Amino acid sequence: MILVGRPEDIPLGEAVRVEAGFGSKVPIAVFNVDGELYAIDDTCTHQDASLADGWLEGCSVECPLHASCFDLRTGMPSGPPARTPVRTHEVVVADGLVYVRVTESVEAASVETAA
Ligand code: FES
Repeated sequence: MILVGRPEDIPLGEAVRVEAGFGSKVPIAVFNVDGELYAIDDTCTHQDASLADGWLEGCSVECPLHASCFDLRTGMPSGPPARTPVRTHEVVVADGLVYVRVTESVEAASVETAA
């Protein structure tokens, strides 16, 4: 699992980005939606934009480059130009620290989300 930090490091309605190399091959964004934490791959599946820099509305984040929205629970884009989902990851809070358990594939993320 990747250590993200303390829960208070992720303010309400904000996201933090965990750079690649800290236990993940790609950057990951962790969002705080009304106290609920969600983790997805940070890079938009359309082009090279950071979703942590996007706009959060409910459980959806709007890409800052071309405005596709991604559901933080499923990783699914709401519409073009992005067509491919981002991976979602499990967030674990233990002993006052936030961790992300990295999902290996989009398929695995979908199965975990459906469970
Ligand atoms: S880079 Fe995200 S929608 Fe184009």
